[in-house]
Amino acid sequence: MYIGLDLGTSGLKGILIDDNQKVVAEATAPLTVQRPHEGWSEQEPSSWIAAAETVLDKLSAHGLGAVKGIGLSGHMHGATVLDKSDQVLRPCILWNDTRSHEEAAEMDGDPIFRRVTGNIVFPGFTAPKLAWMRRHEPALWDQVAMVLLPKDFLRLWLTGEHVGEMSDAAGTAWFDTGARDWSDDLLSAAGLTRAQMPRLVEGSEVSGHLRGELASRWGMGQVVVAGGGGDNAASGVGVGVVKAGQAFVSLGTSGVLFAANDGYQPDPATAVHTFCHALPGTWHQMGVILAATDALNWYAGLVGQTAATLTGELGPLQGPGKGLFLPYLGGERTPLNDAAIRGALLGLEHQTDRAAGTRAVLEGVTYAFRDSRDALAATGTKLENVLAVGGGSRSDYWLKLIATALDVPVQVPVAGDFGGALGAARLGLMAATGAGAEVATMPPIARVIEPDTSLTAAFDAGHARFRAAQKAIQALSH
Ligand code: XUL
Repeated sequence: MYIGLDLGTSGLKGILIDDNQKVVAEATAPLTVQRPHEGWSEQEPSSWIAAAETVLDKLSAHGLGAVKGIGLSGHMHGATVLDKSDQVLRPCILWNDTRSHEEAAEMDGDPIFRRVTGNIVFPGFTAPKLAWMRRHEPALWDQVAMVLLPKDFLRLWLTGEHVGEMSDAAGTAWFDTGARDWSDDLLSAAGLTRAQMPRLVEGSEVSGHLRGELASRWGMGQVVVAGGGGDNAASGVGVGVVKAGQAFVSLGTSGVLFAANDGYQPDPATAVHTFCHALPGTWHQMGVILAATDALNWYAGLVGQTAATLTGELGPLQGPGKGLFLPYLGGERTPLNDAAIRGALLGLEHQTDRAAGTRAVLEGVTYAFRDSRDALAATGTKLENVLAVGGGSRSDYWLKLIATALDVPVQVPVAGDFGGALGAARLGLMAATGAGAEVATMPPIARVIEPDTSLTAAFDAGHARFRAAQKAIQALSH
């Protein structure tokens, strides 16, 4: 048996699979995000351990004696800073925190960062957060002995070792993505050294062993802990998107349009992310939008409903409504690289009701995905079809909208969980048994949602309107 632990922004999910990858049990524990100042987004690393304990308690009801491997997945880019005794120095600064936009712009202005990492230095990435600490929290910065990404902090608790892996490390801006190693030049440009970084393994390699104390607490024996992956790469392994030509759309807190690549093909000017995949010798590209279900949940909170109620009261897909929503609640990455832009709800009239608002929000997030589709196309990556994952994929209305506005068939897997937690469990299996990409199969597809071609022209026009509004709002936000 194998366990996958996926540290998500809104909760930690655990999955237990048997040797044939059949899901035996699942468990979750909620997590919250603290936003003490405008643009800030933080979590206490101790809350991740408490959540992992809850999840392992729940999974252990199914008997964990046969577990041979654990894999980890987690939200990317977070700066978890430790002193020389491995004590956490401050709350983790998360992937959607934009406080370090000035430091990010400064780093991005030095051509070495894009050249070596293959990516823009976005404010959400790890390096500018440390630069922010150096400027604003110098007493803490002086004590930084180790910087870990969120899931790698869980690994420290599980194994006692400082280890990272390639897919997550590629999102730090200290990493040579083509060479799959830390860049000493970038680290030194940031005032850091390799000694402050964890040792690196591939996602499917062994990173350490479960500590004896934890193994006996949950009735396990000798268990290897795999490198694992950043949540998007781990999701790629979970849905079998590991070869060029395969792609998925993730409708989670963030929105991700993810394509696997055969080789390393960076194109930072497009604001597409080019990272290592979680399997050796593979890479992937993705467009990242910062608020996907986060935008829908924001609107649901505003009108006092749940997201499920809101999407449930929409009938069949209609053409674009008059309401127009820009989903930039905390800035945007692809294609804008703009931490300062903010959202907007336009085109309101007396007839605008709750459902019209829901449609506008879903359409706005979908147009943002279409921008990412265009950015991927500009790098030469064309999507033939996309597999849908994440909480938002439970809405058929939204999936039909995505298929139509992006003009791409959307594959819906059979019921079940095929995200980061399954990918992590598969990486645990690979590390424990030596298996490779062949175990990362695609899930059975329940149905394929085709674009509604009678609405293509209307959504082309809707997207043009969205782009015009984006330009105007961008000008107003600065
Ligand atoms: C990817 C990104 C998010 C987080 C949270 O670059 O920032 O997708 O990994 O899921």
